[in-house]
Amino acid sequence: MRASQSRTEGALDGEQLRDRIATELARARARSTLLTEVVDDADLIRQHSPLMSPLVWDLAHVGNQEELWLVRDVGGREPVRCDIDELYDAFKQPRRDRPALPLLPPAEARAYLATVRDKVHDLLDAVAFTGRPLVADGFAFGMIVQHEQQHDETMLATHQLRSGPAALHAPPPPEPSVRVGAEVLVPAGEFSMGTDTDPWALDNERPAHRVDLPAYVIDAAPVTNGQYAAFIADGGYTEQRWWSPAGWEHRVREQLSAPMHWRRDGDDWCCRRFGRWARVRADEPVVHVCWYEAQAYAAWAGKRLPTEAEWEKAARWDPTTGRSRRYPWGDDDPTEAHANLDQRHLWPAPVGAYPAGASPLGVHQLIGDVWEWTSTAFDGHPGFTAFPYREYSEVFFGDDYRVLRGGSFGTDRSACRGTFRNWDYPIRRQIFSGFRCARDVRPDESYR
Ligand SMILES: [Fe+2]
Repeated sequence: MRASQSRTEGALDGEQLRDRIATELARARARSTLLTEVVDDADLIRQHSPLMSPLVWDLAHVGNQEELWLVRDVGGREPVRCDIDELYDAFKQPRRDRPALPLLPPAEARAYLATVRDKVHDLLDAVAFTGRPLVADGFAFGMIVQHEQQHDETMLATHQLRSGPAALHAPPPPEPSVRVGAEVLVPAGEFSMGTDTDPWALDNERPAHRVDLPAYVIDAAPVTNGQYAAFIADGGYTEQRWWSPAGWEHRVREQLSAPMHWRRDGDDWCCRRFGRWARVRADEPVVHVCWYEAQAYAAWAGKRLPTEAEWEKAARWDPTTGRSRRYPWGDDDPTEAHANLDQRHLWPAPVGAYPAGASPLGVHQLIGDVWEWTSTAFDGHPGFTAFPYREYSEVFFGDDYRVLRGGSFGTDRSACRGTFRNWDYPIRRQIFSGFRCARDVRPDESYR
């Protein structure tokens, strides 16, 4: 992939943009295919958790959204199948009800996706990337690429919840190559949050706006299993004082006593990853914790969760130029050296494995590995405008959801940027969620 390719989409000529879109569509489809080929039809139809759709629902939903936005809206073509729109409408069909729907059987779902994709290639050959905002810079195609990759991550989370023998295989992430310090001090001052220029950025990442923050201290790496195990060993789950009232109520009701997928092994911990049990490794970021658990850990550690703005400033602000980068390492798209993304590996990398991905201030592994909970409720940036539809983000604004940032090992690079925002309920932990802590600056600490 060419360096700095996606930051200059606006400058790509039509042919280059067409190539890029075709490549990204193919990458997303290869991943959807892998995730739905490694299990049999019975497994595709089964609901592995009430939190998740049957894999075959996700698959056909991906095709249906591609048909709605690209074939019908952008292309103005005849519907492929308008009889199934309702079945695959995520707002009309709650996840728990999806297995009972008359879903397309796996073979039919695959054929439907192939038909839709053929029509998309056909219209991609002819489309002009000018005029309507929906097609400018290939936005609608980028949105559909990201949508498929986001469902692929959801399908990966379903794989983690399914029982039975392992179906997915990948090499382990790289070993640490540097020692990472404990904390980084971020000086007070303004920075630019959000974006006006990333052509495939979604509505909730826009517009760019100035945010002024007091100085703060942020962890140089995500909280590790070793640190989290110390919280457990110190009675973290049994001492109410570390928990918010809602968090404590949830912990008691659900009898939470460790991250999801952990179990005791003598004095140690084991965890289940995609059908295999493994010893919990102390230097890997903790994953599968909910917002309430993250908050309780932070209180126990004498810290707090970072606000979303604190996370983004730590990730993007370049103290030398004063500008905000697309990623911690700069403006170039992620490579294997920068971050644990793209489902190349099936769990987070140990702290210190991605020195090339660190921010200018020395904050590591902000992108990839684990989604990081922030303290911030999901809302629009100042000046937010819903695009291309309210249901993408706006209907989720409010106090129900907390923002997660940075992507996980299961996030594709096309759906991960320094500005990318994810959100979920504070009780959720089937996602690949971890966190890092922050704190206010103490009076005795000076700026470097
Ligand atoms: Fe969707």
